[in-house]
Amino acid sequence: MTAKILSGKEFATQFKQTVCQKAHLFEKKYGLKPGLAVIIVGKDPASAIYVRNKHRACAETNIRSQIIELDESVSKKELLAVIDSLNKNQAVHGILLQLPLPKHLAKDGSEILSRIDPLKDVDGFHPLNVGRLSLGEDCLVPCTALGCLRLLEAAKIPLEGKRAVIVGRSNIVGKPLFHLLLQKNATVTICHSRTENLPSITKTADILIAAVGKPHFITSAMVKEKAAVIDVGINRIAPKKLVGDVAFEQVAKKAAFITPVPGGIGLLTIASLMENTLKAACLQITKRGDCIEN
Ligand code: GUN
Repeated sequence: MTAKILSGKEFATQFKQTVCQKAHLFEKKYGLKPGLAVIIVGKDPASAIYVRNKHRACAETNIRSQIIELDESVSKKELLAVIDSLNKNQAVHGILLQLPLPKHLAKDGSEILSRIDPLKDVDGFHPLNVGRLSLGEDCLVPCTALGCLRLLEAAKIPLEGKRAVIVGRSNIVGKPLFHLLLQKNATVTICHSRTENLPSITKTADILIAAVGKPHFITSAMVKEKAAVIDVGINRIAPKKLVGDVAFEQVAKKAAFITPVPGGIGLLTIASLMENTLKAACLQITKRGDCIEN
């Protein structure tokens, strides 16, 4: 068997078109565009590329975007004051603080992220949104996890009653995806670096999600025949060479579906950020996440 390659580019383009249509309807109905503010602290080159891509996606989806560049040496107090001012700004519906933060701020990362108004928390990192997700309530959900779900839905990969195995227990991907897939009635297992006999578990997966951050970690011997394999990893193995967590060539011979890296989940993460910004705008204006539907 040779797996069908799920192109992130194709799906992300579709999702962004849908957001764009709704963002135009939003503007017509409420007299302003949905607005996103991205804060970047310091000059991390990878973060600068991510932020530029987010800015470009906003332009494609009728979302007003603002990048706030702060010096590497900014104090916690100054950063919190910027967040407070964006929380108050009614033209800003979504606030994203680009990670990683410089060392002197990273130690207070949770406190700083919790300062973002939960209704503007388009990363879904605020404890209130984390709690709501675990309760199965409507909320803003971390973008990469949401991107994985949107891809599985769009590719019509059945989830109900199926076995999903997530390798990686991060707060950004593994844990939120656990809740999203559980809500779709999948039977979900999370594995991690201390899991014993990992292949015996991954081989049970109808849907296998790799989010470990180790190049080519998932080999074909770890994959069930005809599984859907979603690769969340982005690993730089040479200056111009990015690879995923999945040994793509060998796994593609066994799986039914596979996502490539690059050109896979990364693009859906950005599309989900646009979806979250529109949802945040709806939540703030009408207290409903779907203010465009009816
Ligand atoms: N840096 C890498 N991934 C992310 C993300 O999902 N959100 C934020 N805020 N920063 C990141």
